Amino acid sequence: MLQTNVLHLHLKKLNQKKNNSKIMTREILADYLQQNPAEIALEVGEHGKPFIKNNPLHFNVSHSGDYFLMGVTRESAVGVDIECARPNRDFLALAKRFFTPSEFAAIQSDKNPVAAFYRCWTRKEAFIKAAGLGLSFGLSNFEVDVSEDLGTQSCLLHSHNPLFSASDWILRSISSDHLEFSYFAAFATRGNVEPVFCC
Ligand SMILES: CC(C)(COP(=O)(O)OP(=O)(O)OC[C@H]1O[C@@H](n2cnc3c(N)ncnc32)[C@H](O)[C@@H]1OP(=O)(O)O)[C@@H](O)C(=O)NCCC(=O)NCCS
Repeated sequence: MLQTNVLHLHLKKLNQKKNNSKIMTREILADYLQQNPAEIALEVGEHGKPFIKNNPLHFNVSHSGDYFLMGVTRESAVGVDIECARPNRDFLALAKRFFTPSEFAAIQSDKNPVAAFYRCWTRKEAFIKAAGLGLSFGLSNFEVDVSEDLGTQSCLLHSHNPLFSASDWILRSISSDHLEFSYFAAFATRGNVEPVFCC
């Protein structure tokens, strides 16, 4: 049973031979909807965000390396992102190109700039995926806090898009306690919901 103020997070290891993100998505949704996975009516929004036709259940998925992450909520937009850190990535060049000057400066001065880069990346991706606009939101149109420990505080600092005011959203990283080493993940929801991990 999924209550309106709860976010279910499903973190699964993908077995490339047996399943993929699309199969996993339908299998998990089938449990909520009590429907045959193949019969779930999935549609795609203008910017590519999948949704269930005529149903108040919201979901979003992300996959990277061996892992698949899915967030499911009732009546609240949700976005998730998981990234497996790649060792040879020129992360400072990427940060300078994609992130805001303040985010870039915070990453550079962090005691672990690689971890700060991935926190920033996953937080920004989770928010644009929750908003449903993908990269068309404009990565410089909003700013996140890249600090490590923000507790239950939202790390969305401000948004320049009047339709997506920062105060309406909760954006948080998933604690490393739940993730394998070198993975980073975040979720965003419209309104405050309690994250609950599902097996
Ligand atoms: C497509 C995008 C939504 C996510 O891409 P991604 O990080 O490569 O992929 P993820 O694994 O996190 O997410 C993929 C899933 O997002 C979903 N998705 C696609 N478009 C979406 C959108 N507009 N909004 C929300 N979810 C979307 C789909 O379910 C997709 O699943 P599928 O691969 O099974 O079809 C988009 O944000 C993108 O192209 N990002 C590029 C990454 C980048 O350059 N980031 C810059 C640094 S922040």
